[in-house]
Amino acid sequence: MSHIFVTRRIPEAGLRVLRESGARITVCQDDEERGVERADLLAGVAECDVLVSLLSEPIDREVLAVNRSLLGVAQMAVGYNNIDIDAATELGIPVTNTPGVLTETTADFTWAMLMAVARRVPEAHNYAVAGRFKLWGPNLFLGADVGRGADGRRKVLGIIGYGRIGKAVARRATGFDMEILAYSPSHRERIEADELASWAELDELLARSDFLTLHPPLTPETHHLIDASALGRMKSTAYLINAARGPIVDERALVEALRAGAIAGAALDVFEDEPAMAPGLAELPNVVLCPHIASASHGTRSMMATIAARNAVAHLTRERAPNVINRPVYDSEAYRQRIAL
Ligand code: GLV
Repeated sequence: MSHIFVTRRIPEAGLRVLRESGARITVCQDDEERGVERADLLAGVAECDVLVSLLSEPIDREVLAVNRSLLGVAQMAVGYNNIDIDAATELGIPVTNTPGVLTETTADFTWAMLMAVARRVPEAHNYAVAGRFKLWGPNLFLGADVGRGADGRRKVLGIIGYGRIGKAVARRATGFDMEILAYSPSHRERIEADELASWAELDELLARSDFLTLHPPLTPETHHLIDASALGRMKSTAYLINAARGPIVDERALVEALRAGAIAGAALDVFEDEPAMAPGLAELPNVVLCPHIASASHGTRSMMATIAARNAVAHLTRERAPNVINRPVYDSEAYRQRIAL
């Protein structure tokens, strides 16, 4: 009997699709709070036909190589920096993700964080629920305008990474009458032809943004793209928002910049060494910190699970999965040998 190994419990809609395939389904870790032990991951992958993974587990060469007949990896996420794609391709293993479906939900959440940090919503909430709201005052929780506000100035939204999510964030900014600058080397032509954003080199974008939001994939090029030097080039009144991947920001440098008032605040949904946070980050007043939930709406997470499960079933039945990341793998000898086993 075929066997699909799911590292951690995915939403029911996805599990249903997996069950309907007729395969035996094993969910390795059922406890929401606990991660998967490395030994359990290796043992599970060693005896399954298809692996359904989450971004919380490193799917490296050792994991991929543990099973000569593994037919595919179906990741339930759009990002896949936890998977060694080169190793998968070399070994003849197709890897899929769940693009598209989480675009709007992630853009919504980016805006929720932007507004929350600009208008100090978590700080004000904590103040109110702690019973400290005794008297309304004209100086309570003064924050930054996102729209034109009293000074009438259009605020500048800088977007790094202008793929699907970056553009969905830009669409929402038009409601706030913002000037939108975008930097995304792989989308330069698209930005230059864009009706919402204008292309800006990184230096200009850093220097001019009132709000800087990050949406590129994590790659060697984007690792620590926002480091001490980049933070030093931002306005002292600017806010940084990161709902992409933690290591795009040098988190220790960010703590220093926030402490020193080099920028006004930061809203982070992702961390460099998730779930750990850089020392001092959680104690700062001018941050909004969330546990990687940008795509966490009921509907979107169910749909992500469903798509991941459909991809897993495609791997199982040796069909070409629609969301394959390493498409050339299907024409490789390594893949042909693998599916022939
Ligand atoms: C979430 O971070 C994802 O990549 O889907």
